[in-house]
Amino acid sequence: AVSAPQPVSVTRTPAPQAKAPEPQPLPPGVSNAEALRSLRERVLSCQKCGHLVAARKNVVFGVGNPDAQLMFVGEAPGADEDAQGEPFVGAAGQLLTKIIQAMGLKREDVYIANILKCRPDTPGQTSGNRKPTPEEMNACIAHLHEQIDLIRPKVLVALGATAVTGLLGTTTGITRLRGNWHTYRGLPLMPTYHPAYLLRNQTLATKRQVWEDMLKVMERLAMPISEKQRNYFL
Ligand code: URA
Repeated sequence: AVSAPQPVSVTRTPAPQAKAPEPQPLPPGVSNAEALRSLRERVLSCQKCGHLVAARKNVVFGVGNPDAQLMFVGEAPGADEDAQGEPFVGAAGQLLTKIIQAMGLKREDVYIANILKCRPDTPGQTSGNRKPTPEEMNACIAHLHEQIDLIRPKVLVALGATAVTGLLGTTTGITRLRGNWHTYRGLPLMPTYHPAYLLRNQTLATKRQVWEDMLKVMERLAMPISEKQRNYFL
């Protein structure tokens, strides 16, 4: 799924913010991994959006460390993710993996999920993606809330305008939001450009912007940062 940054003046319709129940403490003895596994089972059989259920090959729940300190939130599965049942495995996903590695982490160290767990259908189209609608985001957001509340990462990163709109409900463009800390469900949230946007805008300046956002995330997580890392894309 592709998220280009919107001009700052453009007003988009924010996703209605579903009222989420307060996080419930896990019963004693239930690990995050077990709780996520049972949540995954439930989400894999979700039938809320008939048109998406009919079109999907797989439900793309999320992947990574159930105890991750860092969680990335994207928009929705694309064709590759739908085929494989795993988020961020296509071209944009490979770039996300490189970003994670540049931070000194592995994909398995972090948690990766999307606002939508099903691929937005594209009836009559043989290629390309479409953005999730506010109704689809509203129907699906409770699954993400449950994931966030189980994992309780120390930092969330929202990838691209649609993810930020889905989370914060704001009409402000990603260009203005990125690089600044926000709060989501009591957790620090850093918006940055979507890797698909980076693939289309391969300028040093844009790469550096995303990298500066990641440096802020690393600082927030008290991760070691080498001189070499500080200077990437300068
Ligand atoms: N783009 C997204 O936002 N999510 C994916 O999982 C893949 C591409």
